[in-house]
Amino acid sequence: GAHVLIDTYGRVATDLRVSLTDRCNLRCTYCMPEEGLQWLAKPDLLTDDEIVRLIGLAVTHLGIEEVRFTGGEPLLRPGLAGIVERVAALQPRPRMSITTNGIGLKRTAAALKHAGLDRVNVSLDTLRPDVFKTLTRRDRHQDVLDGLRAASEAGLTPVKVNSVLMPGLNADEAPDLLAWALEHEYELRFIEQMPLDAQHGWKREGMVTAQDILASLRTRFELTAEGEGERGSAPAERWLVDGGPQRVGVIASVTRPFCAACDRTRLTADGQIRTCLFATEETDLRALLRSGARDEEIAELWRKAMWGKKAGAGLDDPSFVQPERPMSAIGG
Ligand code: GTP
Ligand code: 5AD
Ligand code: SF4
Repeated sequence: GAHVLIDTYGRVATDLRVSLTDRCNLRCTYCMPEEGLQWLAKPDLLTDDEIVRLIGLAVTHLGIEEVRFTGGEPLLRPGLAGIVERVAALQPRPRMSITTNGIGLKRTAAALKHAGLDRVNVSLDTLRPDVFKTLTRRDRHQDVLDGLRAASEAGLTPVKVNSVLMPGLNADEAPDLLAWALEHEYELRFIEQMPLDAQHGWKREGMVTAQDILASLRTRFELTAEGEGERGSAPAERWLVDGGPQRVGVIASVTRPFCAACDRTRLTADGQIRTCLFATEETDLRALLRSGARDEEIAELWRKAMWGKKAGAGLDDPSFVQPERPMSAIGG
């Protein structure tokens, strides 16, 4: 229809990723520095009401079918359960999930399920508490494991686990992580590190690639590519492990980008639309919203923003520049 978020390449965005805060209670070395970042100021953040209103109009006016809450760390947002509950009451009701570091899940999983959350993705890069402490600069490994268990028990399933492998730290852990994930029935995905760190320290040479990961996994498991047509717009390519039915995924944003199938639009915690993780421009919905605009006017600006979405991340272009905002302020 004429009222969806379509771009000049014919892609239709049905998946809205909403960042609820740029803050985090970990300090993953590939994400942000020890001292943290200059956090967004409270008056600049969208309020819970503003977030619910924007999601509502995205569902009714723009064809959004799926909402993902991200951060920073979305569980740090006090109003999360309330937002989930109000979004769950929308007609049509979008599917709802969060991407979290898992630390707060032990405390919140049951309430979030009750509020209407469908599922969670949890980041966990290592099974070794000492490596976790080096990688995240916080001693919270057990909290993440407890959070994962709480999510499963609450029925926030399938529980997916995201792992970024770093040379010299956890790059040798891929098979161990997979054995552990299979045992606990988590769907594990390995993620290639992207140039979105606040320190701008990313180097292609230093990156563990999809090819490296698959070779490492194949030392212990038999992997067969998932059937054609099962991927859709998912960033993860998946393999059946030892004949299936369990799977492992690889999100190869650098070496095998999925931009041609991208169905995402993003809203930052301060109310800016981003057409892509790697967009160099943003569209200010917050200003329009706070000027008293009607839903249809806001929807129209959102459509206009998405029409300008670029073909892809452009990581291989000689002219590539890393976006100004780091991942933690964009929403993963
Ligand atoms: P589901 O499989 O539907 O649960 O979601 P997902 O894998 O897309 O989401 P998740 O938030 O778990 O993100 C996993 C990884 O994919 C993270 O590293 C994200 O930064 C990355 N990712 C998410 N969206 C995009 C995107 O639009 N482009 C690229 N290149 N990477 C993305
Ligand atoms: N490249 C790839 N993945 C990243 N993540 C954080 N920073 C990066 C990066 N530069 C991961 C987190 C989490 C997910 C939201 O993105 O570990 O699993
Ligand atoms: Fe926090 Fe995620 Fe960044 Fe780690 S990668 S510091 S969990 S926002």
